[in-house]
Amino acid sequence: MSDKLWGDGGEEGDALLDRFNASIDVDRALYREDIEGSIAHARMLAAQGIIADDDFKAIARGLEQIKGEIERGEFEFRVCDEDIHMALEKRLTELIGEAGKRLHTARSRNDQVALDFRLWCMRQNRAMALLLVKLIKTLLAIAKAHTQTLMPGFTHLQHAQPISLAYHLLAYIAMFIRDFERFESSRKRCNISPLGGAALAGTPHDIDRQATAKELGFDGVTLNAMDGVSDRDFALEALFNASLAQTHLSRFCEELILWSSSEFGFVKISDRFTTGSSIMPQKRNPDAAELIRGKTGRIYGDLIALFTTMKALPLAYNKDLQEDKQSVFDALKTLGDSLAIFTEMIGDKETKFNAEAMLKACKRGHLTATDLADAAVKKGVAFRDAHHLARKAVALADQKGVDLSDLTSADLAQIDGRLAVLVFALDVFASMNARTSEGGTATSAVEAQIAKVEALLKTIAL
Ligand code: ARG
Repeated sequence: MSDKLWGDGGEEGDALLDRFNASIDVDRALYREDIEGSIAHARMLAAQGIIADDDFKAIARGLEQIKGEIERGEFEFRVCDEDIHMALEKRLTELIGEAGKRLHTARSRNDQVALDFRLWCMRQNRAMALLLVKLIKTLLAIAKAHTQTLMPGFTHLQHAQPISLAYHLLAYIAMFIRDFERFESSRKRCNISPLGGAALAGTPHDIDRQATAKELGFDGVTLNAMDGVSDRDFALEALFNASLAQTHLSRFCEELILWSSSEFGFVKISDRFTTGSSIMPQKRNPDAAELIRGKTGRIYGDLIALFTTMKALPLAYNKDLQEDKQSVFDALKTLGDSLAIFTEMIGDKETKFNAEAMLKACKRGHLTATDLADAAVKKGVAFRDAHHLARKAVALADQKGVDLSDLTSADLAQIDGRLAVLVFALDVFASMNARTSEGGTATSAVEAQIAKVEALLKTIAL
């Protein structure tokens, strides 16, 4: 008799079904978690007197040996074994005989796979959090060097007001801090062990769920065993967190792509991260940034794929759930690679911001028009009138073919006598430094933001 779980084997149609049914090509990535989970389970079974100590020892030894085989590339992953759980148990029984057959006592693949996948996600949450910290530190170092580097701030991609490059970078740092916090807080919420749920209802054996949870580094066990084997909220959270972090990266990439164009010229991305064109020798295409932006769509697809798989599943385990891993593996691998590459790209010594080009850009688009109006208001001019006068000043600058910041006090006097003393307000550097409100772009406010980020980084245990 075949020990396959379905079909009667042999026929070609069955071969197609076997492949369709198998998940080993995907879930082989969980071998380490599966082995750790099995060793913890067997140790607990022995401690509870459910299996003999010698059986546990043989199981642990056998599983360690299999781990070595896998890591040395000697293990053969076969579709006929269906998934990583069956493949490992089969090899274990080949190696140690009877004891291997006792491992699955008081357990089902349903709680086993939920356990493996949770362990994997928890580790990835941590890995993503650490990559984000590295990125935040890299950006902070650049920001510290550019608190005095002026650039135009944009709204609607139109020149709006002068800001510092540090201020712009700190906006992204703030986003990445929240991404970091999201991965960390997901870890806290999801770090509970489903092991012991068995198929769906628990087990009549006298198991100790707390012991296995503790050994595997979980903070506790799922309240309800059926929930533990059937929900995948932890995976969805990881996917959402990845989607959002990748969104932030993608926006930043979009800006680097724009900024490295000849139209902007704000940044030169290191050659390591750009490519030449096969026919246009002058080209430096920002491929790495474009790829990070481009991969964002696939990560969103991964999130929607799992949501769709989950939306109409009745409790508890359904085979649909086997489709849960591919999207999560893909999304977290993509985010991890994107974070690592982006950090290297932005931190590369040959990636250089062009302060001169940014300053020059500040002299286009009359960036200090709001400052002139604000200064007039401070002198007692009603806001509506001040706004009107500033518009007149802009018109005058246009007429003279200069930037607003180049107007003289005589020019301003020509518009309205009260404006003559306000020529200081047209200076782009003074404009940036006037925005001292908390979280603003003035050097003093930016330094306060940097200090807060540094204080936060000190509290993170790595
Ligand atoms: N390969 C399966 C999965 O990934 C393992 C669980 C199988 N359980 C079952 N009752 N068929 O979901």
